[in-house]
Amino acid sequence: MSSCFNGGAGWPEPVVRVQAVSDTCGETIPERYVKPPNERPSTTTPQPAASSHGISGPNIPVVDMSMPDSEETARAVEAACREWGFFQAVNHGVRPELLRRARSSWRGFFRQPAEVRERYANSPTTYEGYGSRLGTAKGGHLDWGDYYFLHLLPSSIKSHDKWPDLPSTLREATEEYSEDVVKLCRRVSSLMSKGLGLDGGRLHEAFGGEGGEGACLRVNFYPRCPQPELTLGVAAHSDPGGMTMLLVDDHVRGLQVRKDGQWITVDPVPDAFIVNIGDQIQVLSNAAYKSVEHRVTVSAAEERLSLAFFYNPRSDIPVGPMPELVGPESPAMYPEMTFDEYRVHIRQRGLSGKAHLQSLQSFRSAASS
Ligand code: OGA
Ligand code: NI
Repeated sequence: MSSCFNGGAGWPEPVVRVQAVSDTCGETIPERYVKPPNERPSTTTPQPAASSHGISGPNIPVVDMSMPDSEETARAVEAACREWGFFQAVNHGVRPELLRRARSSWRGFFRQPAEVRERYANSPTTYEGYGSRLGTAKGGHLDWGDYYFLHLLPSSIKSHDKWPDLPSTLREATEEYSEDVVKLCRRVSSLMSKGLGLDGGRLHEAFGGEGGEGACLRVNFYPRCPQPELTLGVAAHSDPGGMTMLLVDDHVRGLQVRKDGQWITVDPVPDAFIVNIGDQIQVLSNAAYKSVEHRVTVSAAEERLSLAFFYNPRSDIPVGPMPELVGPESPAMYPEMTFDEYRVHIRQRGLSGKAHLQSLQSFRSAASS
């Protein structure tokens, strides 16, 4: 099949783009994309039909960021991080024009002919570039989505050669977007620190301080799917990094967040960032803030694009519960580990629920007993 490419060294089997599958599969999706019955969207949670008419069920909190220095904003961020691990940030200071430009540039990349996209095919050693799977287990289930992954910080590992050169607006839009979103991450980091009862700069310091932070971007493209009830765009996972700033299509739902055992569908506020806690902040906060499982459903009617900006601790410094948060009443829940070490496991096994963080916790109990 011409839509079959071997994405270079490292993949266990030829890589097939979901975009090509979507174009050629007709009414039935290939077996590899069919999730086990208990993971399928339709069987786990009946979606409240009302939510598409504005009468929605529970939803993640919305936080107004127009006054980032106010006590009230810090309290709103804190409550969201403790209870939900997720919130939508509005009035966040990143210009709508830039959001539009970033989205349309990346949509433009996924609309390029396959030959152009394949120039950037990735491998599982670094994952940088155009990809269609995470993890290298042969024969495993696949998600209904393609992506592009690239590094932004530290600037020593940023390389424009690994970014698409088409459409011509993409590199500049991505640069500008990155600069503004990093600034937003710093503001949010300060609010999260204060919410833990710490100095505003404490979390930033734990991330490696000035020039230490890491950042990368994963642009997800979910083509239309003839059987959305059988598959997922991204299976349930928590984000391995520090925090995530997600920009989604305003008009297509897809993101679901796990809350008290239920999957809650996020109703995106136009031009908001969906902010969530990743595993590294769960560890640093000694589980005061939750890195919550989420997943993505796909649609038969519409494709969907999202930009997931991951803001991470410097990758070679130990990350463990911050000492101020540890005491006789609240012993450290996790051992120290660098983000580089943490990522090795994820890259081999792929993302899978919260299994990795839980395995660290059991490591601690075993080590201390
Ligand atoms: C991710 C993710 C959600 C979405 O890329 O980690 O959770 O809506 N994406 O695309
Ligand atoms: Ni995620």
